[in-house]
Amino acid sequence: MHQITRVFEPEQFSDAARVVRDGGLVVFPTETVYGIGANALDESAVSGIFRAKGRPQDNPLIVHIASIQALPRVAREISELSACLMRHLSPGALTVIFPRNLSLASAVSAGLDTVGVRIPASPLARSFLTSAAVPVAAPSANQSGRPSPTSFAMAYAEMNGRVDAVLKGPDSELGLESTIVWPDGDNCVHILRPGAISPTMLRNVLDAHGFKSVPIRWKGQGVEGEQSLAAPAAPGTRYRHYSPLATVLLFESDADLLALVSDARADGGTAYAFFGIGSVPEIVADSGCSMVRLFSTLEAYAHDLYRCLLEADAAGCSRILAWLPPAEGIGLALSDRLRRAAGYQG
Ligand code: TXA
Ligand code: MG
Repeated sequence: MHQITRVFEPEQFSDAARVVRDGGLVVFPTETVYGIGANALDESAVSGIFRAKGRPQDNPLIVHIASIQALPRVAREISELSACLMRHLSPGALTVIFPRNLSLASAVSAGLDTVGVRIPASPLARSFLTSAAVPVAAPSANQSGRPSPTSFAMAYAEMNGRVDAVLKGPDSELGLESTIVWPDGDNCVHILRPGAISPTMLRNVLDAHGFKSVPIRWKGQGVEGEQSLAAPAAPGTRYRHYSPLATVLLFESDADLLALVSDARADGGTAYAFFGIGSVPEIVADSGCSMVRLFSTLEAYAHDLYRCLLEADAAGCSRILAWLPPAEGIGLALSDRLRRAAGYQG
């Protein structure tokens, strides 16, 4: 599919909003990653998203709204617990799954009876959504399987010729997609995908608003030490994700790293990249590593991860040796994305 893609400057957000309201596809910035938006009430606009991304038809989309007042337009029932999470953690990097309002295009939910809803915190995203005045279905603006764009340049390179317009904005502040939660009545809150809203942040909100006894689970396991239950899954997490062309290899210890560097060296001097925190390990410095990315914090690692994956490809690296952080705070989301980039399933 080839079409002319217009670029709108940030101050032209209302022009970009008009394109989306009228049935076009518009890439827009959010604080998590850039999204590719379509009017969620327009069946043919929503199916255009699946074509532009090469996205499997059974993978539902998140609907974006400008404020909590618009929630009844997209959700059919709003439980007290779900409303509480939306009120206290939105706008922000949180998507809550609701029973879907039947006025939404059916392709949004890919055959499910539910819809994921998010109110982004990015001021430009909210101006765009307010001006659009319709709910906007938007997955990440990457072609299916590739890392999500976190800057205008990445989003434009990925979607030029595939969408009607791109709204230019700042780099995404967080760099990883939102936390998705599915509240199972008042019994349990399942995390379907971890993001910058951590289990501790969810816990604090539930505790402060009368839901102290409601457990939080990730992959069916209690993140607070309870026994496991059958785990629901976000359909999208079944697919290969966040993958650069290079092979991503993860290490947790110096011994792991040593083995990976020896393998890379043994393999005829293939170019490799190193992603880590703190200082460059001697073994890496001495081994002719062709791209080193050191992050000062886990937040900075999360912020830059997708861009660095693509930079390693551009630099011709055939392997990326990446440090796997402990799964706490933002480390839970970061380690999830790194594992998927490395090809782990589930
Ligand atoms: O931060 C984000 O969430 C970004 C920005 C653009 O808002 N969006 C995003 O969308 O990451 P996408 O399509 O790349 O990922 C959405 C994930 C997929 O894994 C999908 O299967 C899951 O959310 N999902 C969407 N609707 C769902 C539903 N009703 N039930 C379960 N999972 C759902
Ligand atoms: Mg995505």
